[in-house]
Amino acid sequence: MAEIRIRAVEAEDGDNGFFKILSQLTHAPVVPRAKFAELVRKERADGSRTTIVAVTAEGSVVATGAVMMEHKYIRGGGICGHIEDIVVDSEFRKAQLGKKIISKLVEISREKGCYKVILDCAEDNAPFYEKCGFEKKECQMALYF
Ligand SMILES: CC(C)(COP(=O)(O)OP(=O)(O)OC[C@H]1O[C@@H](n2cnc3c(N)ncnc32)[C@H](O)[C@@H]1OP(=O)(O)O)[C@@H](O)C(=O)NCCC(=O)NCCS
Repeated sequence: MAEIRIRAVEAEDGDNGFFKILSQLTHAPVVPRAKFAELVRKERADGSRTTIVAVTAEGSVVATGAVMMEHKYIRGGGICGHIEDIVVDSEFRKAQLGKKIISKLVEISREKGCYKVILDCAEDNAPFYEKCGFEKKECQMALYF
């Protein structure tokens, strides 16, 4: 695979394929440039969410993922990491890039002091997360508005 770098999301990524990649996961219309820059700035300042991107040498976003920190009252005020919005561009799949994104998010969670990291996924994707070291636990419940 060509040179790929993983780093924190930057405001310019909005113009470099970030939303095209997210659209392969779910409905992800382009957020206007100024609003996107503000969201990235807030994420940096706040520190409770970290979004990362994988970019080519030319700067195109080819994968992304995020982890959110949940500060709990249990576990002596422990922190639980929640991995969200994992997607690798269809042309870059099956080349270990998804695994690298997860590995980076797990590393960030450790550095931020999490006692565990959890995520929800489709049954079809469970083998991928198992390859990343995760195991199945309990079940997910949802109530949509
Ligand atoms: C799921 C996804 C992120 C995997 O990314 P990827 O870059 O193709 O995965 P990797 O190449 O890093 O795969 C790592 C390992 O998991 C395996 N794997 C990946 N997807 C798999 C799947 N759906 N079923 C079984 N095994 C899978 C790979 O074969 C590889 O195995 P190996 O280490 O023995 O070679 C990617 O397919 C994707 O973006 N899908 C669409 C969006 C999506 O569903 N996101 C997840 C939301 S929860």
